[in-house]
Amino acid sequence: MERILDANKDTDDIYEESIRPSMLNEYIGQTEVKENLDIFMKAARMRDESLDHVLLYGPPGLGKTTLAYIIANEMGSNIKVTSGPAIEKSGDLAAVLSTLEPGDVLFIDEIHRIPRFIEEILYSAMEDYKLDIVVGTDSSSRSIQIDLPPFTLVGATTRAGDLTGPLRDRFGIIFKLNYYTIEELTDIVKRTSRVLESPIDEEAAIELAKRSRGTPRIANRLFKRIRDFALVLGGGNIDLEIATLALDKLKVDKLGLDATDYNLLKAIIEKFNGGPVGIEAIASAVGEEQTTIEDVYEPYLLQNGFIKRTPRGRVVTEKAYAHLGIKHQEGLF
Ligand SMILES: Nc1ncnc2c1ncn2[C@@H]1O[C@H](COP(=O)(O)OP(=O)(O)O)[C@@H](O)[C@H]1O
Ligand SMILES: [Mg+2]
Repeated sequence: MERILDANKDTDDIYEESIRPSMLNEYIGQTEVKENLDIFMKAARMRDESLDHVLLYGPPGLGKTTLAYIIANEMGSNIKVTSGPAIEKSGDLAAVLSTLEPGDVLFIDEIHRIPRFIEEILYSAMEDYKLDIVVGTDSSSRSIQIDLPPFTLVGATTRAGDLTGPLRDRFGIIFKLNYYTIEELTDIVKRTSRVLESPIDEEAAIELAKRSRGTPRIANRLFKRIRDFALVLGGGNIDLEIATLALDKLKVDKLGLDATDYNLLKAIIEKFNGGPVGIEAIASAVGEEQTTIEDVYEPYLLQNGFIKRTPRGRVVTEKAYAHLGIKHQEGLF
């Protein structure tokens, strides 16, 4: 079964386009990012220049793609969209770059996945608006340089640490997106309720926010499921009772943990005595990729103090033992 709490975008999430805020003033939370971005965009417009290149990083589902589109809308620019995995050959990147028009926003999602040997093409494109390409083959090959119009590269990544220094240095503006507070998520849920014209009570919105792992994508996805329960079992209005019932049925607990989280925490407790244990060992114990654990499962557990990172590995905290109702056997030393 698909995991309803997976913050990664799923094919079922196409409705996202319809509830995605399109201007900065509709974008809830991330106050510092918003305030700074607003100034930078205004300044660029006053100078009649394109905005400096922007790098957005943070866990999936927090609003990176949304911000990229907002930047284009606010700057009155067109947006061209590609992603790291879609760029396999240098020609793929050259093709996108050569279609750019003055002031365009080029959004590269998962930018950390651009192959290193291609990344270099971006350096001169970003810095000098020049595109160096090699034409011809073998003995007849030569390098030509094409002028590009001024443009803004917006890169998004869940793993800023995987970017090379030279690439990171070419972004004038770097923003980290953080998990949202319950209040912010409540506002996001209420906004979604308005956009989808599906009413939700205040307490129900708060309950949903509490279980959404600080992540708008999850809040919206849960909202969509809860409104099904409300439609079939109630009169369509989402009240606290319906919301709680639906969330319980969806097996999302009071703090937004599901079976996957329980398995992970239990594996550390039962197989490694609560840790410390290395990420590789955890990955093989639960049969998942190490990067999936690091990018998807672990951030929320770390953020909320269910596990801690120590120099010797991950450790399950007292909070997790208490939440799972497992008695903690202290080590014998
Ligand atoms: N700050 C926000 N305010 C309102 N809705 C948001 C916000 N951030 C994200 N969302 C919602 O969450 C969904 C996922 O956001 P997205 O930008 O696709 O995340 P990311 O690209 O970081 O994975 C969007 O469709 C949007 O509806
Ligand atoms: Mg995205």
